[in-house]
Amino acid sequence: MSILKVARIGHPVVRTRAKNVDPTVITGRDFQRLLDDMVETMHEYHGVGVAAPQVHVGLRVAVLQVPAGDGRGGRRGVPVSVLINPTVTPLSKKRVLDIEGCLSVPDLRGLVPRFDKVRLEALGRDGKPYTLVASGFHARVIQHECDHLDGNVYLDRMEDMKTLSFLDEMERFSRR
Ligand code: NI
Repeated sequence: MSILKVARIGHPVVRTRAKNVDPTVITGRDFQRLLDDMVETMHEYHGVGVAAPQVHVGLRVAVLQVPAGDGRGGRRGVPVSVLINPTVTPLSKKRVLDIEGCLSVPDLRGLVPRFDKVRLEALGRDGKPYTLVASGFHARVIQHECDHLDGNVYLDRMEDMKTLSFLDEMERFSRR
């Protein structure tokens, strides 16, 4: 496995709509290796998700994981998940504000509104389709990663750019 170089905003790949994956290649060695490398890259940089365009690959693939100890993914967290050719359908009108960051936008955080509950339909790493319903932080990560596949980053979703903060300053001033 390899740690992949992460593309930051300004690199065109981050802003380019990714292409659908041909399902027949999913179980092949090269594609499985890409998935492993994306997971390793996510772990290396302590991210909760990585989308393929962030590692310079213009395909509709993302991986995500919320560790059990994270506190945001429920008590059990969210195990390593692979999303290939995903579609996301909002299941709530309600959107909630929470803090997001992104490996392609280093050091910054901002408040982003996201649907509280979504249905995810995707192919897994075995190439088989699956559907799940996610809420809260899990739903947020799904929306964030799927946005990357359309060339969008969380900054595009922010309603109040004044909340954009460097992580260390945000931590310094949110301390009571
Ligand atoms: Ni991101």
